[in-house]
Amino acid sequence: MTKDKVIIMTGASSGIGEETALLLSQKGAKLVLAARREDKLKELAQKIHDQGGEAIYKTTDVTSSEEMDALAKYAYDTYGKIDVIVNNAGLMPLSLLHKRKIKEWDQMIDVNIKGVLYGVGAVLPYMREMKSGHIINISSVAGHEIAPGSSVYSATKFAVRAITEGLRMEESVSNNIRATIISPGAVSTALTETITDEDVKPSIDDVYNGAIKADSIARTIAFAIEEPEDVAVNEIIIRPTNQEW
Ligand SMILES: NC(=O)c1ccc[n+]([C@@H]2O[C@H](COP(=O)([O-])OP(=O)(O)OC[C@H]3O[C@@H](n4cnc5c(N)ncnc54)[C@H](OP(=O)(O)O)[C@@H]3O)[C@@H](O)[C@H]2O)c1
Repeated sequence: MTKDKVIIMTGASSGIGEETALLLSQKGAKLVLAARREDKLKELAQKIHDQGGEAIYKTTDVTSSEEMDALAKYAYDTYGKIDVIVNNAGLMPLSLLHKRKIKEWDQMIDVNIKGVLYGVGAVLPYMREMKSGHIINISSVAGHEIAPGSSVYSATKFAVRAITEGLRMEESVSNNIRATIISPGAVSTALTETITDEDVKPSIDDVYNGAIKADSIARTIAFAIEEPEDVAVNEIIIRPTNQEW
């Protein structure tokens, strides 16, 4: 059941996060929207309210553990519980290693890995206390496969899978906390706009020509949430039918 669940969504200002927040609100969840762009969060919260749903928002940079802790506290103080967090915020500035795009490597490690860890760390105290909860982390097909240009991005998405599996082993039996990895293939969002390496961009544009829409990922995340409490959907790969890699 999704109705009345309190769900924190990071990266809610765009793409998969925005689409998933909308769908979950239509199913009766109370959304706590997070990202850095306040105007986008405000717009989405308004849209959810206009549709008769429930949402609050807090501008949050996932690379700050303090801000992630404050986000969890805001959710708990407002609603008295946290049922789900979707650690979705991420970026994908693919590049060849010899280009030495060190700032982009650091950004991916900070947002894609540390952001997920800080999200896990922020909600665990509440979920352990409740002996209930669900942590959904967004990995990627690139968390299963590596291609030239994807070394660092893939490393971050492999890390997301490692963290989520460790979380499952530590917290599912003892504290009834469910852990889910969602690994999408090419989805039509703003994600590829962060690619600055012109030697990588054309091949990625080719793959993204066949990209699927974010609402398919939203339904997949909703499916994992909707399963009964004693069922943990641990991992799903979802890619375009026409995507070989
Ligand atoms: N699209 C795909 O093909 C695809 C495939 C596999 C996996 N994924 C994963 O899906 C997730 C969502 O991506 P998307 O495709 O929806 O891309 P997107 O449209 O570019 O959305 C990325 C989101 O991440 C947020 N974000 C980035 N840096 C942040 C930070 N430091 N703090 C807080 N929020 C931050 C952005 O919000 P602000 O800029 O407002 O902060 C935005 O809401 C990512 O983890 C991505 O790796 C996507």
